[in-house]
Amino acid sequence: MNVLIVGSGGREHAIAYCVAKSDKADKIYCTPGNAGIAEYAECAPIGAMEFEKIVAFAKEKSVDLVIVGMDDPLVGGLVDELEAAGIRTFGPRKNAAILEGSKAFSKDLMKKYNIPTAAYENFTDAGKALSYLETAKFPIVLKADGLALGKGVLICNTLEEAKEGVKTIMLDKKFGSAGNEMVIEEFMTGREVSVLSFVDGNTIKTMTSAQDHKRAGDGDTGLNTGGMGTFSPSPFYTKEVEDFCNKYIYQATVDAMKAEGRPFKGVIFFGLMLTEEGPKVLEYNARFGDPEAQVVLPRMKNDILEVVEACIDGTLDKVDLQFEDNAAVCVVLASEGYPVSYEKGLPIEGLEEFKKHDGYYCFHAGTKFADGKIVTNGGRVLGITAKGKDLKEARANAYAATEWVQFGNKYMRHDIGKAIDEA
Ligand code: AMP
Ligand code: GLY
Repeated sequence: MNVLIVGSGGREHAIAYCVAKSDKADKIYCTPGNAGIAEYAECAPIGAMEFEKIVAFAKEKSVDLVIVGMDDPLVGGLVDELEAAGIRTFGPRKNAAILEGSKAFSKDLMKKYNIPTAAYENFTDAGKALSYLETAKFPIVLKADGLALGKGVLICNTLEEAKEGVKTIMLDKKFGSAGNEMVIEEFMTGREVSVLSFVDGNTIKTMTSAQDHKRAGDGDTGLNTGGMGTFSPSPFYTKEVEDFCNKYIYQATVDAMKAEGRPFKGVIFFGLMLTEEGPKVLEYNARFGDPEAQVVLPRMKNDILEVVEACIDGTLDKVDLQFEDNAAVCVVLASEGYPVSYEKGLPIEGLEEFKKHDGYYCFHAGTKFADGKIVTNGGRVLGITAKGKDLKEARANAYAATEWVQFGNKYMRHDIGKAIDEA
């Protein structure tokens, strides 16, 4: 079959890598893609929000299946548009992608269906939010309701900071219309774990666990980023934690969406916090995580197209989802200055080294071709993933491989997976 992948980051590169391995794949396309994805797919310069052009492209190329990787087009309804044109698509429709698109919606859903999460209130009025804060406990967490590139969450230690936060989100509209509504929630402490899952509307099958590192600097300092590195599995995601989540979180979420008339097909990403009172949901995403996909997908034994088709057809219960009994670590190579400002267009050397080693992957996050050479084209440039028999070996392998590639202003964290040592 002909497959089109929508997106341009490391996550979409990891998806393309899996699709290329499938016997079912004939031609692979990607819009807009990047220089790494171009190894497997014909990339076309169509933006992920250019729905009409994507639909026309899919028809022109006789695409049999579209996989939407990114959040914005999912929340905006790309799946609905493609389906209306008769094209099979993997990902939630607009009415289900709201699980990620509106934090106020997801919090109300969890409350209504008794899914464990932080205590909260939703606000559409800045004045009411400000008076609520007067009697609140600190620290406290403010969240813009809509999509904000992972930056719409403010953790405030004092009343003053929180008042400033309400102004930033609701009055100054720093995150645009994402701040028309706001969630104020209880601050939780504990380990964070990401669990991605395949969902067919009724059945849910979870993938192996992972952990992200969101801050830019070593020791979790500096600004929040899209993610500076990941490891999988998480040693903190024990059998006991998994059993709890199976009982109270995963199927409960899928059933809740169905009961609300918003059946979810695609990937649900559970951002969990392992608190002293048990696991609680920090957030839902309606897609693979980035860079979680870069450590989870290379460990998946199944043919991705078989799993994706089972989600679309509602036959996921027949799929035996399996992961390798090993570990993987991904270290993001970024441009110095990310996430604020950074140079682009610098040549990248050493990429061919990855072809010589099994179990090592160089997923492109922000790259492009310029005059036949591959150059940097984003804050996050590459995701260097390596497998190992255990997390320690995978981490050593990944850090060794970060030395294979060179580009100007190369920046990385040096403590990805350090938490492994405490497990
Ligand atoms: P989110 O986009 O909702 O995942 O939030 C981004 C990050 O903010 C999370 O990965 C957590 O590190 C942190 N965070 C979000 N909500 C809370 C909370 N209620 N308590 C503590 N930290 C939080
Ligand atoms: N790594 C977090 C995310 O994909 O949202």
